[in-house]
Amino acid sequence: MQEIKKYVEENKQRFLDELFELLRFPSISADPKYKEDVLKTAEYVAAKLQAAGAEQVEVCSTAGYPIVYGEKIIDPTKPTVLVYGHYDVQPADPLELWETPPFEPTIREGKIFARGACDDKGQFYMHVKAFEIMMQTNSLPCNIKFMIEGEEEVGSSNLDKFVAANKERLKADVVLISDTAMISLENPSLETGLRGLSYLEVEVTGPNRDLHSGVYGGVVANPATILCQMIASLHDQNNHITIPGFYDDVESLTEEEREMLNAAPYNEEVYKKDLGVEDVWGELGYTTIERTGIRPTLEVNGIWGGYIGEGAKTVLPSKAYAKISMRLVPNQSSEKITQLFKQHFENIAPKSVKVKVSPHHGGEPVVTPTDSVAFRAAEKAIEESFGKKPIPTRGGGSIPIVALFERELQIKTVLMGFGLDSDNLHSPNEKYDIANYFKGIETIPLFHKYFAELSK
Ligand code: BES
Ligand code: MN
Ligand code: MN
Repeated sequence: MQEIKKYVEENKQRFLDELFELLRFPSISADPKYKEDVLKTAEYVAAKLQAAGAEQVEVCSTAGYPIVYGEKIIDPTKPTVLVYGHYDVQPADPLELWETPPFEPTIREGKIFARGACDDKGQFYMHVKAFEIMMQTNSLPCNIKFMIEGEEEVGSSNLDKFVAANKERLKADVVLISDTAMISLENPSLETGLRGLSYLEVEVTGPNRDLHSGVYGGVVANPATILCQMIASLHDQNNHITIPGFYDDVESLTEEEREMLNAAPYNEEVYKKDLGVEDVWGELGYTTIERTGIRPTLEVNGIWGGYIGEGAKTVLPSKAYAKISMRLVPNQSSEKITQLFKQHFENIAPKSVKVKVSPHHGGEPVVTPTDSVAFRAAEKAIEESFGKKPIPTRGGGSIPIVALFERELQIKTVLMGFGLDSDNLHSPNEKYDIANYFKGIETIPLFHKYFAELSK
């Protein structure tokens, strides 16, 4: 531990500089305009893995963006950790809300502001630096493999194929991911579950062309109005989701489990203040912690249609659209929920419009084991570096690869994230605390150490 700390201390500035360099690539996977930048990012990641001591480093092409692979096998009889992360980031817009440009990382009040600072460049890069430390101090206690992908933020649609085709190469005893949040540096935690996702787009069509709203308004259905009515009806007055069968497979927790979950430190006043809202909202009968952790949700991610340009145009639009996603919990199935939504949405549409529901990507919910050697190793590592035992929590986000690793490779995951929920992931002014970055770099070698020890 002392040796690790010393190494970090001596290389602090370089560890920051390298992360900054990585953050300067606008690796936005959703926008084809950034294709060259995304590809350059993959090359940078590969070069850094190589420099840190990884072997068999390869930028593996897929039908989409490449997956960066690298490994260090010290002894095939020793356990192997597969580190997963993603080098792609979310789009940065709305740009005008950023205090400093998203791809010019800037430090303010001890935090690094940049798109991807926490999700996930700052987090996966901790693993590259922790690996460098273990190599340089001759203390890598187990085998390590890296798989850093470039399409996580757009649904990892080419990953299934890669995983299926590389089963031998990816063979490992545990998957280690830092792409989630902890409560705080004072209250370290480990996420023990992630929600699944069912994402779709709906199109509501009224008349066959845009119409004069004076001549035709009040006579033919306005698809924008109808879409709003349909969307509004998806929650009842208790904010339960009204799609028939939606909750059928939802796993219910025991009173005891719920109590444990709710025992985690949480301050609603601070929470509301941070978000600038007077009140929280959600499904009746559940706390905020439960609403994000163990309950499924339905959200409109975007809605548009009609005239949205400068000034006014009196038009009755022909079409209206929305992007809608549902977060799923064990044991809901993404495919089944997508079907239920589609059926219901088509059912509730009045005859005056036509609706089209097109599924995007999905992902299955997961719970990770808390009684495994790997989880105990993570607990011990955090306890040692933070001086406090981590609290198990359930995460609200989704990382579809976790279920895929389980299904395809039969490998369980440990979610050892060092971000904070308030780090503005996917929002303007995304940030990552420098303290969390270095704490993570110090903690990761301890994970490997305890994982190797406890595996014996
Ligand atoms: N790192 C996040 C997921 C996350 C965030 C998990 C916070 C737990 C806490 C990841 O990059 C992400 O954003 N995933 C997407 C899903 C994907 C299919 C687009 C998400 O959760 O919306
Ligand atoms: Mn992420
Ligand atoms: Mn993300």
